[in-house]
Amino acid sequence: SFLEMEVEQIKKGNYDHFMQKEIHEQPQSLTTTMRGRLKGKSVILGGLKDDIKTIRHSRRIIFIGCGTSYNAALAARPFLEELSGIPVTMEIASDLLDRQGPVYREDTAVFVSQSGETADTLLALDYALENGALCVGITNTVSSTLARKTHCGVHINAGCEIGVASTKAYTSQIVVMIMLALDIGDDKVSTKQRRETIIDGLYNLPNIVREVLKLDTAMKDLAESLMDEKSLLVFGRGYNYATALEGALKVKEVALTHSEGLLAGEMKHGPLALVDETLPVIVIATRDGCFSKQQSVIQQLHARKGRLIVMCSQGDVSLACSTGFCRSIEVPQVEDCLQTVINIIPLQLLSYHLTVLRGYDVDQPRNLAKSVTTQ
Ligand code: G6P
Repeated sequence: SFLEMEVEQIKKGNYDHFMQKEIHEQPQSLTTTMRGRLKGKSVILGGLKDDIKTIRHSRRIIFIGCGTSYNAALAARPFLEELSGIPVTMEIASDLLDRQGPVYREDTAVFVSQSGETADTLLALDYALENGALCVGITNTVSSTLARKTHCGVHINAGCEIGVASTKAYTSQIVVMIMLALDIGDDKVSTKQRRETIIDGLYNLPNIVREVLKLDTAMKDLAESLMDEKSLLVFGRGYNYATALEGALKVKEVALTHSEGLLAGEMKHGPLALVDETLPVIVIATRDGCFSKQQSVIQQLHARKGRLIVMCSQGDVSLACSTGFCRSIEVPQVEDCLQTVINIIPLQLLSYHLTVLRGYDVDQPRNLAKSVTTQ
């Protein structure tokens, strides 16, 4: 009805779509995610305080989720492994159920779900509870089924997310899982300096997010150049393997364009066969321990005449792709494990603009639902 439309417009404020609003809201949503949880140089997650010792002593941590929530866990995994020293494995909820994979009492199973109502994630939770694992929930929805059924957990406090494609929940989920890693590692003297550097980085993160959002117009221009493409590849590795998967997921779910997020280390085992002068390829090559490997990936793609778009740290264009053979997306550099929060934002903006230019429904992509409550 007309009234309903008016109410919707009021909720969107100055934005045309909820997805756009939610992308631009990230400096604030990340601030509320961290509020009350950073105390000086340490992290306190109240919802885990009775269980943190059990988590520290678990034999394995299993991340379980679907869609964007799975990708967020993947982004946090390297840092959690580093700080906890505990093996961290990844499970797509439906796949764990299909395999009836082994889950033990000594495991900590961390369930990640924006809605807290995704059917497969909840069924995997029942399964892990039956097997005696400690079950931790990470959700945006207070009093959701996930929040009620898990033993303990953390609310991401990103605020209500309406666009079907998850954006602000993704970055808040990553930040919560980085805080989880800091909390688990809090008893280790050997990593104190590293933890303090990351905590300083967290305090400053909303400011950097505000800065990277200024790429909006540049991403609109890039979207214009990609508007008629049938396919788009995104290569990442290390922390940014998750960025590649999540960037490609955004492009396919809202812009309805075929896109694949690929592990750069697997390039020669198939994907390279697709590369030619016409297929656009985004390579994520911001500064971290994988930078030199990504430089060589870029050279090899260039040698195959790949149509490159390189995401690199500010000032690195000439290092990342020598003598201007590629388009670039320059992003501010932050600590390695926080860089995924920054790097996804231009790709969220790109998929948003691609969708608008192509004339598709941004907030309600065809065939998709915000919350998948059936199997
Ligand atoms: C649907 C949504 C995605 C979301 C996924 C998992 O596919 O469209 O945006 O990432 O479900 O949802 P959850 O609520 O469990 O995070």
